[in-house]
Amino acid sequence: ELGRFAHYMRKEIHEQPDTVRDACRGRLRPAEATAQFGGLNLPPSRLRRIRRIVFAACGTSWHAALVGEYLIERLANLPVEVEYASEFRYRNAPLDDRTLVFVLSQSGETADTLGALREARRRGFPTLAICNVVGSTIAREADGGIYLHAGPEVGVASTKAFSAQVTVLTLLALHLGRLRQLSFPAGLDVLRAIESVPELLSRVLDREPEVIAAAERMAEARSALFLGRDLHYPVALEGALKLKEISYLHAEGYPTAEMKHGPIALIDPETPSVFVAPRGSLHAKTLGNIEEVRARRGPIVAVGTEGDDELARLADHVLTIPDAPEVIQPLLAVVPLQLLAYHVARLRGCDIDKPRNLAKSVTVE
Ligand code: F6R
Repeated sequence: ELGRFAHYMRKEIHEQPDTVRDACRGRLRPAEATAQFGGLNLPPSRLRRIRRIVFAACGTSWHAALVGEYLIERLANLPVEVEYASEFRYRNAPLDDRTLVFVLSQSGETADTLGALREARRRGFPTLAICNVVGSTIAREADGGIYLHAGPEVGVASTKAFSAQVTVLTLLALHLGRLRQLSFPAGLDVLRAIESVPELLSRVLDREPEVIAAAERMAEARSALFLGRDLHYPVALEGALKLKEISYLHAEGYPTAEMKHGPIALIDPETPSVFVAPRGSLHAKTLGNIEEVRARRGPIVAVGTEGDDELARLADHVLTIPDAPEVIQPLLAVVPLQLLAYHVARLRGCDIDKPRNLAKSVTVE
């Protein structure tokens, strides 16, 4: 079943062009420049009345939700809050009948996420789930939702489920945007961008040798910083989590510009910084932050856009992704970071598919 791969994690990383295709299947409506879901069980009139969205999730699913927050703000101009399910379930989080609650879970069995779902439903709020495992407890108990169709994820470190979640959330942002202020041409641009992702992801995967070179540099480190801003802040968090989980190398994710408020004190020639820095609206500012790390002789790895010579001049290693619209960049930028964690863990001799102390689904609080 593993085929040419030594580990499920790498196999699942390489499946991601298909993962994104499968998450989109049957959901794109180019004639109306929107996306559509069969299982939301809410009429458009109800969805249009929504004034706020709350996402509750844990771990990698929480990171995907954070990408969702940025996307829904951009495309639908709706306020979104992303909560740790373990916090949400015991707080008295203010909800009202114009708030829509979603829980996100790959497995559909995470105890804290199930607790959040049950608490929201007990209070009488219809609660939707974004879930991978069909027929799981969360999928069964939710009032409706969206399946990821990512197929079984075996590697303990979640990879393709994250991409499927971000894909579905991009479609949800498009759907909500088109019920509101997003014009037909702007919606169509988003739709076309999503359609291009599988092909672009294949090109990202072809660049794995660049990642291996960077991993060789990072494998000896004791700690690493992951930095990204805007849509790439959650990607930086996810890159840090992947590295921690499977290589046991300490890593922290931060919004890039927060670096100067403390974490910059960690920078030295032994502490690599991984910047998620594709070309986009804030790119010049990110380059400035990279200069600051370079001035302190910190090793620099950067996920960047093909042909970005300025970035190539500043970074020790560039993990290249193709030029693409900003809304789909998180889907492309996360992949080199998944591969980076994989190769660092491999070089450090770690048990990649069964990392210590972790289980595939966390069914205890
Ligand atoms: C990270 C990872 C965990 C899960 C978290 C939630 O690689 O696998 O952080 O993302 O335990 O799991 P689900 O999505 O199944 O609720």
